[in-house]
Amino acid sequence: MKKVIVASFVIFALAACGGNDSKDGKDAKKEETKDNSSEGSELSSNPDYQKGLAIVAKNDCFTCHAISEAKVGPTYMDVANKYAGGGDSIINYLSNKVRNGGTGVWGQTPMTPHPQVTEEDAKAMVKYILLLKK
Ligand code: HEC
Repeated sequence: MKKVIVASFVIFALAACGGNDSKDGKDAKKEETKDNSSEGSELSSNPDYQKGLAIVAKNDCFTCHAISEAKVGPTYMDVANKYAGGGDSIINYLSNKVRNGGTGVWGQTPMTPHPQVTEEDAKAMVKYILLLKK
């Protein structure tokens, strides 16, 4: 358990620094990534990113999810890519799914429900996840 959490943070730290190397490709990349730029430096200074990540880290999410490495659940990057540009209805759908749990979208493994998470916190986590789009 401890190991998994440490590994998640290492992955996060790597992902957070990853953008610094890609400054050269910035202009070319901008076209594709639009507002939800996944540039490390811009991303980690986004308040939605910071707030959502803090709540995700407080909960058990990283036990089953990593940003780009498959674990029990889909990677957050895959989730972000799947629902990119979905707007408010997607934020509502995903935050309900986090609170109620469910199965069948990514496979037969169920996500456990998180009834202790408030609607507001669930939405903040989902906004953070959606920012991880590549
Ligand atoms: C017990 C393991 C587990 C935990 C803990 C967990 N998840 Fe999941 N999560 C999953 C699985 C498995 C799926 C795929 C469910 C499916 O296929 O419908 C999933 C799917 C998701 C999805 C995509 C849902 C969809 O319908 O596409 C989001 C978003 C998500 N999880 C966020 C979270 C957040 C935020 C937390 C922490 C509050 C969390 N998960 C905790 C296992 C987990």
